[in-house]
Amino acid sequence: MDKIRLGIIGVGNMGTGHLKNISDGLCPRIEVTAVSDPVLEKLKRAKDIYPSVECFDDTVKMLDSGLIDAALIAVPHYDHPTLAMECFKRKIHVMTEKPAGVYTRQVREMNDAAAEAGVVFAIMFNQRSNPIFAKAREIVKSGQLGEPKRLVWIITNWYRTQSYYDSGSWRATWNGEGGGVLLNQAPHNLDLWQWIFGMPKRIRAFCSFGKYHHVSIEDDVTIYGEYENGATATFITTTGEAPGTNRLEISGDKGKLVLENGKLKWTKLKVPEREFCFTSKTGFACPETEYEEFTAPEPDGHPILLNNFADAILDGKPLLAPGYEGLNSLSISNAAYVSAWTDDWASIPVSEDVFEMHLKYLCEIEKKE
Ligand SMILES: NC(=O)c1ccc[n+]([C@@H]2O[C@H](COP(=O)([O-])OP(=O)(O)OC[C@H]3O[C@@H](n4cnc5c(N)ncnc54)[C@H](O)[C@@H]3O)[C@@H](O)[C@H]2O)c1
Repeated sequence: MDKIRLGIIGVGNMGTGHLKNISDGLCPRIEVTAVSDPVLEKLKRAKDIYPSVECFDDTVKMLDSGLIDAALIAVPHYDHPTLAMECFKRKIHVMTEKPAGVYTRQVREMNDAAAEAGVVFAIMFNQRSNPIFAKAREIVKSGQLGEPKRLVWIITNWYRTQSYYDSGSWRATWNGEGGGVLLNQAPHNLDLWQWIFGMPKRIRAFCSFGKYHHVSIEDDVTIYGEYENGATATFITTTGEAPGTNRLEISGDKGKLVLENGKLKWTKLKVPEREFCFTSKTGFACPETEYEEFTAPEPDGHPILLNNFADAILDGKPLLAPGYEGLNSLSISNAAYVSAWTDDWASIPVSEDVFEMHLKYLCEIEKKE
């Protein structure tokens, strides 16, 4: 096999985007043999873009057709785990869109099913392909930044208008989407947070629901997280601020990283701060520093992740974003909701029963409105 035969489940905005990338020759080891979507106009549009593709208005029929080795799931979030599990039953490799799902219990079940099936399972965390995030991770994980102290991420450039939220009936609802900015836009950043800096042990979150838009889900969030070693993280995101900021700052005992505008700025301390603090004889002295900078244009991550998925299937290459890791960012966002709903700290992992009880309640209220 020199090409994988891919089926795309859901040819809405993102599924069509992936289809166009493949049709434009950006994924030479992938042939789209089938697509599925219950909406006929979307299937027609897919056929126009990729004339050789077989169209199915029933996803299970596509999975049973024998036409595909791998599936790309690009439907609303609640259905990512259920459809992934349908694929695993049939030993079909899976690339799922982010987030992994809406609640962690279902995602854990999906991860177990993937492990049992033994197929390739990836998640579309396309921002992991950005070299400056990969460099930051390497610096932190290799210990070159010293003992981690603090992560601060202001990621407020996810601006969306009311028209965006009105563009699909599932959007911005507890019943259709299961959350707002934490589940739709920020999963990329929550993933990078934990990928670079690790998982916090408990968090306190403040979510404002429908603050800037006529929606029932959250569109403005501040999370404060604590780590086993005393490090802290602050994460601020919204879809209601313009112009937005995307600035990630990470401090450790040996220096600081600042990631902004496609640049990673690395300030290194010549003497680690903890050592300097107790050896310096001068009250207002600061450790001497050295400086290094890395610049890289933001790559088009979607085809990079798809090519990596194909390489993993065809050559056994390691995945940039293994599907199992989707549980981590979802664990942070589930805990953030519980913290906001209960106005209290939430430990990670958070109680799945408490999360699901609150979500169910919000879904019921929303149905009555
Ligand atoms: N990685 C990224 O950068 C990125 C960007 C945008 C969206 N996404 C993710 O992609 C997913 C889809 O988002 P979107 O903006 O494309 O939504 P969308 O509403 O534009 O498209 C979803 C499509 O799925 C179809 N669908 C629903 N149930 C289906 C089923 N059982 N089988 C087949 N098709 C089905 C719908 O008819 C629709 O065409 C979301 O989970 C979102 O988070 C990821």
